[in-house]
Amino acid sequence: MALSRRTFSALAGSAALGLGLGGSGGSGAPSAFAARASVPTGPAPVPPRVDGEQHTIGYDRYSLIVDGRRLVVWSGEMHPFRLPSPALWRDVLQKMRAHGFNAVSVYVAWNYHSPAPGTYDFSGVRDLDLFLRTAAETGLYVILRPGPYINAEVDGGGFPGWLTVTRGTARTDDPTYLSYADQWLTQVNRIARKHLFTQGTGTILLYQIENEYDAHAGDVTGRRYMSHLYKKVRADGIDVPLFHNDKGRNGYWAPGSFDTGGETGGWLYGFDGYPSPSSTPPDWGSFGPGGAKGGASASPSTPGFVPEFGGGWFDPWGGAWFDGKGYAESRRTRDAAYERRFCLTNFANGLTLHNVYMTFGGTSWGWLPAPVVYTSYDYGAAIDEARNVTAKIAPMHQLGHLFQSLPDFAKLDRAAEVAARGLKVYHLVNPDTGAHVYVARNDTAAPVTSDLPTDAGRLRITVPGKDARLLTTGLKLGERTLKYSTAQPVFCLTAGQQDVALFTGRSADMADLVLMTPEEPSVMRLDPEAAWVYNDDDELRVTSPLGEGGLTRVLVQKGGSETPLVLLFGDDATSVRLFPYDTPTGTLVVYGPALLRHAELRGSAVHLTGDVTGTTTIEVWGPRGIDTLVWNGRTLPTRVTLSGSLMTTGLLPAVPEVRLPTLDGWRMRRENPEAGPGFDDSRWKVADRTTSFSSTPVPRGRPVLFADDYGFHYGDVWYRGAFTGADGLEEISLAYSTGTQGLLMAWLDGDPLGTHRMPVPDRNSTARQGSWTATATFPVREALRSPGPHVLSVLVRRMQHDQDGKGLDTHKAARGLTAASFTGAAPKVKWRIQGEAAPDPVRGPMNNGGLYGEREGWHLPEFRDHDWEPVAFPRAARYQGVTWYRTAFRLSVPADLDASIGLTLEDDPYRAYRTQIFLNGWNLGQYINNVGPQHTFVLPNGILRTRGTNTLALAALSEFTTLSGPGAVRLTLLGTATGGLPVTPV
Ligand code: GAL
Repeated sequence: MALSRRTFSALAGSAALGLGLGGSGGSGAPSAFAARASVPTGPAPVPPRVDGEQHTIGYDRYSLIVDGRRLVVWSGEMHPFRLPSPALWRDVLQKMRAHGFNAVSVYVAWNYHSPAPGTYDFSGVRDLDLFLRTAAETGLYVILRPGPYINAEVDGGGFPGWLTVTRGTARTDDPTYLSYADQWLTQVNRIARKHLFTQGTGTILLYQIENEYDAHAGDVTGRRYMSHLYKKVRADGIDVPLFHNDKGRNGYWAPGSFDTGGETGGWLYGFDGYPSPSSTPPDWGSFGPGGAKGGASASPSTPGFVPEFGGGWFDPWGGAWFDGKGYAESRRTRDAAYERRFCLTNFANGLTLHNVYMTFGGTSWGWLPAPVVYTSYDYGAAIDEARNVTAKIAPMHQLGHLFQSLPDFAKLDRAAEVAARGLKVYHLVNPDTGAHVYVARNDTAAPVTSDLPTDAGRLRITVPGKDARLLTTGLKLGERTLKYSTAQPVFCLTAGQQDVALFTGRSADMADLVLMTPEEPSVMRLDPEAAWVYNDDDELRVTSPLGEGGLTRVLVQKGGSETPLVLLFGDDATSVRLFPYDTPTGTLVVYGPALLRHAELRGSAVHLTGDVTGTTTIEVWGPRGIDTLVWNGRTLPTRVTLSGSLMTTGLLPAVPEVRLPTLDGWRMRRENPEAGPGFDDSRWKVADRTTSFSSTPVPRGRPVLFADDYGFHYGDVWYRGAFTGADGLEEISLAYSTGTQGLLMAWLDGDPLGTHRMPVPDRNSTARQGSWTATATFPVREALRSPGPHVLSVLVRRMQHDQDGKGLDTHKAARGLTAASFTGAAPKVKWRIQGEAAPDPVRGPMNNGGLYGEREGWHLPEFRDHDWEPVAFPRAARYQGVTWYRTAFRLSVPADLDASIGLTLEDDPYRAYRTQIFLNGWNLGQYINNVGPQHTFVLPNGILRTRGTNTLALAALSEFTTLSGPGAVRLTLLGTATGGLPVTPV
């Protein structure tokens, strides 16, 4: 591989490394990087955009240095593949940006784009180029993570199904595997290299190779593999810093641990962490007394980087010991206080590159979920699966805006130890500006009130149980200096002719801050809650409760600066309705709406777009002379306030009610003709192979029955075994292998033999490593014990491939039948197999399995079901096999309303059946009635026609042991906002 030996490093006295990124990627001459001894503490770089200019991405031990300015990366994870409606990507990205994130981190899942070797699809819902463009248009940096291995709770950890039947061991330096990995990276990089921030053509800032790769961390295989990936990515023209995400603080893959072809300075060390809510937040960086090896101690010259920090947690299937409880529980146990307490600890530990996994979890639709999870990947994240911003957004918003607007936070050293009774305190100082930062953490359940000795005196503070707060002293607010503040600063910026600063805290808090004012200021209280006093020491002390009352404004004029300062105070709920926004013609601060999507200045008019979820006013601070406010295209009457803002005189109305139709008019049709003896299977593949690359051994002397070996990688698979010589046959035993919640049903000559559910292995079972195996034994009725011919029909819901987290090739564990054996007779069976039909060209390879109805298109909207039997729910029937139900419904949601809608299924939890949900042909999930916990499935707009007709198809798989539904099936409103974005039909 031809790789130019560029040297990325340029060392200055302060150990500032820089990644100089001139020239065209991969082939340019060594790029010049101006080494500098100190980095200016100016404002952080403005939101990134496509400007055609070259940019530099460097770093030192404190932070990234982008175009010579420090940048704290405050990133949120979302997966385009978990939101199959490209128009909604923009919605989520705009919500992230408005709420303080400056970057989005994305995995790219190989299996999602590749139905077969050499075949790659980056169109439609898979349009990576569009996603990267949208992120750039939104003003977000991108952290791109294309694997090849990603994990992410997706089938095979992202490996395509077809990789399971290839020679060689994945995640090693095996040449066959590497050739496929290169094939994938070539495809991704062809797109990625058009969106590099360094080249001014996009906003890709950082790029990850592999993920949590610990299997070969210390050996030559691993080093060769990582080196190969590194060089491949560089050769493809990716010239931004690369990194890996270490599974915990192991120090694996720190700079210098593998051959980078002579390049230095282009590699960052990163690690992830998902601490339990009951644990004490760990010291992961420079603070750890005898603590972790990670962070600064594993890689002292690169900045602290946590590429994944738990913004929630995934939820497993219900039942047995998995005991998934639903995502409300994840959001409850990892709530806003959890995120604040742990993220502030991370920050206090010097982690200035921080990605919250997940910030929007989305949906593992179709056959995307790994065995460990069900359809919803809501994750208990700050933005829920239905795209609603939750209460967890508050710490994200507050910290994100803080890091972006106040550059003091990008370079902090540990300062003198400080003790406050009952609290853990971190004390940091910016050596250039002299600002001090205190993070006070309460690890007990009850609130603690304590005196915190700061360099500005003792401050009495209260920290609620299991929470933390951030205090500052000596911080610059525009031209003024803050002596101290007990409330957390969120931002301070210059909007037109005034400085505007926001302070926040919990709603029970009293904000107490002191401004140093060399001469007596003129102070105006614009809301009655605030109080102020000016003392002989030239200090202005302002106090304000942060309670329910909304925003409190105090205007400070004179007192050492000609620029008026508007002090704003608000609790969590208020602070998340305050949006700073940089436009090319000036900075704005907008208060009131639930979301500010976009702002623009046209002459003296401020044009805003965004969402409103309840009655509200809108208030804007901006350049002098603004006199018109246009909200979502409508000019609103306004007045100019004493604080210099422009404010609507009336209230914007609440969201109108959305009525959803009842789902009726259902029609049904029974399926599985494959069970019958007369079914024509002559076009099915003969299962007669004798060898396999599967990690499951082929039973000696028997044919390979593993579905993957016959090209069937996703969803259900059918087998038909024809045999004679069965005189005296007593029992049939079927060995099979699946993911979690696998299931097998069998028929002999059309007569149900029974259903077997894959048992959940016990905690210590090695089966958790990817091969869940069981043998189902069925007695044969007297009447069928004849010589034959007989047909044994078997349906396996094989669920998904293992994630191969340990790098043991367990994604290659067999799925489907593995062997059949007989008691009482020894017939020779001729097997045929049928799984999914050719991949849907739009919905992709993971949309369908091999059910008869799926192969015949019963899930598709255009399918004509007029001759199906009418049926009403609830229904209760006892049978073994598959039944389809279809109906259509119309929605007429007004165009300016964003309604998020779900489908809810409920029934007696004893009933053993499961249902796949197809909306307009898209497989939006699997409901397992007797397992749970998921009952509501998000129907993403774009696939869902909110103004038009929709087709719903349910494929129910029923066991004979109980009655089967569907019971109640209804549409559920999951969120509404006035505003939204135009949604293009998918
Ligand atoms: C991490 C992994 C992610 C995801 C996460 C849990 O360890 O890197 O891909 O699996 O755990 O959701």
